[in-house]
Amino acid sequence: PNPAAPKVTVVGTGYLGATHAICMAVLGFDVLGVDVDERKVAQLRAGKVPFFEPGLPEKLDRAMATGRLHFTTDFDEAAAFGDVHFVCVGTPQATDSSAAELKYVHAAFASLASRIDRKALLVGKSTVPIGTAARLTGMVQGLSPAGPELELAWNPEFLREGFAVEDTLHPDRLVFGVASEWAESQLRRIFHPLLADGTPLIVTDLATAELVKVAANSFLATKISFINAMAEVCEATGADVSLLARALSLDTRIGGRFLKPGLGFGGGCLPKDIRAFKHRAEELGVGQAVRFLGEVDSINNRRRTRSVDLIRELAGGTLSGVKVAALGAAFKPNSDDVRDAPALDVARLLYLEGASVTVYDPEANPNAHRTYPDLDYVGSLAEAVRHADVVALLTEWDEFREADPQDLGALVAHRRIFDGRHALNPDHYTAHGWEYRALGRPYQP
Ligand code: UGA
Repeated sequence: PNPAAPKVTVVGTGYLGATHAICMAVLGFDVLGVDVDERKVAQLRAGKVPFFEPGLPEKLDRAMATGRLHFTTDFDEAAAFGDVHFVCVGTPQATDSSAAELKYVHAAFASLASRIDRKALLVGKSTVPIGTAARLTGMVQGLSPAGPELELAWNPEFLREGFAVEDTLHPDRLVFGVASEWAESQLRRIFHPLLADGTPLIVTDLATAELVKVAANSFLATKISFINAMAEVCEATGADVSLLARALSLDTRIGGRFLKPGLGFGGGCLPKDIRAFKHRAEELGVGQAVRFLGEVDSINNRRRTRSVDLIRELAGGTLSGVKVAALGAAFKPNSDDVRDAPALDVARLLYLEGASVTVYDPEANPNAHRTYPDLDYVGSLAEAVRHADVVALLTEWDEFREADPQDLGALVAHRRIFDGRHALNPDHYTAHGWEYRALGRPYQP
């Protein structure tokens, strides 16, 4: 370790913060992770990642073994420790509007700033409405004994859950939103190992850095809703959206990523980010420019109700008393996150229509159970499908993709399957006597 290297604090130890703290320590920095949640800090101190993220437990072990990574709930300790302080707390959707809830961000910046009495850099990583960083700069310099010696920068994060380590250590690009050359030089020192690897860097003002993040997520959400809008057109015409998507994807200008039709997007980021962006654009008087994001959201939500329609059709016209096996609850595979999860939403809608819903997710059952305790949760695929009238694949875990249609068929009451993620080969299922339905695909009885 280089004694002159800046010391790093990371405030917030959720998906983003814990991953960032662990990876920074692996890269050779002395790191202090900070959280107000004593339970999370205790788990991390004990070497346990408090959520499911492939590859992260191994990296935590490695980082702890170096002796360079510590965790605390004490902001005095954090303020004294760091030269560069990253803020990685959540910005969920507000309870009373579509805006972003900024109270955790404000609290984190204020807690640090009021205690920092020397030259230091505060770096926001959270996704925030445009203009937040400029406003926070005034606030932190007013609160800090160091005054204008305390600077602020914005370094948006593009990591995906399920690929958090890979995306942190090998990102597609780095974005530094800075207000001074000193701030840029500090960030260059921190990210030196990645820059030396050839990671592209874009240096911007604060507002552009904030905008890159919401624009990127808006583009991804729009791409998904575009293909799902085409699925609606397919449903009205007998065309097949999976073939359409494949044909479009071969145009290299379009590309196949985020063009997978199905139940649509969920999670703690895409849905709330497009809503908050639209809200902020309206405040700024440019609502018209992103009005389409409202359509992106509506198309996405319609996929959920349309899925319920197809499952009802498969069940013979009513869901009342029908036993549905819901395969998956997480918003995507390789995650235990059920925030705004399309899968869990469909399971809930089925239940509200009188179906008896048995949910199995390889990782997300505990979180799903906390969110919707009324559904029936079981510990295996076999238990979920036993005596089912309809099987609904809602999150495309490998375990579901690889299941054998003949084995599953032996367990169910009726061989009827709804493939909400275009994850299965319809021919494999129909060959074993299954009735197969998917969004945006023609149905051959
Ligand atoms: C997303 C972005 O991809 C990250 O770049 C960003 O950093 C992150 O949000 C964030 O803002 O923190 P994540 O929420 O982990 O990452 O999930 P994605 O892999 O983007 O998937 C989002 C949703 O879109 C999932 O529900 C997935 O099933 C759905 N999806 C994705 C589709 O329906 N079709 C596709 O073709 C791709």
